[in-house]
Amino acid sequence: MSATVLTALAPAWEGRMVEIVDRLPGIGVGRRCADLADLLAAASAGHGDVALVSAELRGLDRDALRHLGDHGVRVVAASRDGGEDEERRLRQLGIPRHIHLGSPREALVEALTSTETTTTEIAGLTLDPDEPLSDEHPPSPAEGDGSESDATLPDEAPGTVVAVWGPTGAPGRSTLAVNLASEVASSGTPTLLVDLDTYGASVAQLLSVLDEAPGLAAAARASELGTLDLPSLARLAVEVAPRFRVLTGIPTASRWTEVRPAAIEQIIDLARSLAAVVVLDCGFNIEDDEELSYDTLAPRRNATTLTALAEADELLLVGAADPVGLQRMVRAAQAVGQVPSPRPRPVVNRVRASSVGPDPRRRVAESLERFAGLEEVTFLPDDPAAADAALLSGRTLVECAPESELRLAIGRLAALFTGLTPVRRPARRWFGRPRSARAAQGTSQSHGGA
Ligand SMILES: Nc1ncnc2c1ncn2[C@@H]1O[C@H](COP(=O)(O)OP(=O)(O)OP(=O)(O)O)[C@@H](O)[C@H]1O
Ligand SMILES: [Mg+2]
Repeated sequence: MSATVLTALAPAWEGRMVEIVDRLPGIGVGRRCADLADLLAAASAGHGDVALVSAELRGLDRDALRHLGDHGVRVVAASRDGGEDEERRLRQLGIPRHIHLGSPREALVEALTSTETTTTEIAGLTLDPDEPLSDEHPPSPAEGDGSESDATLPDEAPGTVVAVWGPTGAPGRSTLAVNLASEVASSGTPTLLVDLDTYGASVAQLLSVLDEAPGLAAAARASELGTLDLPSLARLAVEVAPRFRVLTGIPTASRWTEVRPAAIEQIIDLARSLAAVVVLDCGFNIEDDEELSYDTLAPRRNATTLTALAEADELLLVGAADPVGLQRMVRAAQAVGQVPSPRPRPVVNRVRASSVGPDPRRRVAESLERFAGLEEVTFLPDDPAAADAALLSGRTLVECAPESELRLAIGRLAALFTGLTPVRRPARRWFGRPRSARAAQGTSQSHGGA
């Protein structure tokens, strides 16, 4: 077996390692890279098939490893003397093979030429479930943050991931994502809501969670460093109600570069073990900016949304019930059909006759079927009283407008993901106040009591 090695090692002992590698049979150093950018460029240009990296390499993270994997470059970790700390850090990142200056010749040849995958695979970054990711947090799901309802599901099937996505124009993605998650949680199913909208995160505000909550940015950073595991994700995902956890979004849109696709993949993967239903509030834009850029290493603005759609099991395509919103929805359905994603379930929000004409449901259903081939449309009513009551109080519809039309419609939709009986409209009493008045009043009701 032969191998051409790209080295990116600590300068203090890089020269010695290069000498050792160059003397191995069939193996040679193709390029000595000065830094990570150099290494990634050499890998993209096909200058080698193995990258030999050390823990000192600045910026080495999962995304970089994925880039190397995508270019068919295997990664082997190297240290001066097999130091445990360096090895552990590189293992946590997902690099399974390790050598050092004193490794026996056969071990060096084996590590640099073996193409066998191990339990930790670079390209897929699948971590060995038996191996603790860090000493501080062994992966005992029960440990979590110690709360009673720390809903980890070690022995159960992985959770279902529902992406809530739709075009620009604020059709109500976040309103639906928040209230769908709250419905599912209040029906007794452990739920995690993740704000992945890197253009305009809003879940923290919608649920009155402190803006400083570390949330997605912290989870992404931990993932890049290889320290994210189930208990640490559970700690970062605030519990806002029983069985209802929330991973808040990035505080300002300018920080989108901190959230890379490999991290999103890992967060979603772990989320499936943390909750039976994972709801993703996605940003609107799915243009693939990689195709527009000559620099394929540059972070991609819309990679978060594209990754979310690719990972999701279910996709709710939300559009607004007015001529502009519906046209955008048709285009969105065409666009999402071009990227890896589940078949969209259309949800038309703010349905009202004044914006669409008489018999709005029939009209909307007909146009969506005719122009986008979308069937089985779910309609959510225009319900400003309920939506505003929720906005104003920073609470969910379950809590502040439990009898509103909007809450009931989202409840019926949520039943799809829980397999439970949909919430029923409370029997109307002829002497009762009009429902809208009750909803606007903001009846307080806790989760699980609806
Ligand atoms: N069914 C509804 N009836 C009345 N108002 C609604 C309804 N759904 C959403 N709204 C309101 O519309 C506005 C936009 O909703 P939301 O923030 O959920 O949209 P979005 O698609 O997430 O927008 P963004 O692009 O900002 O992320 C909010 O003020 C919300 O309260
Ligand atoms: Mg939103």
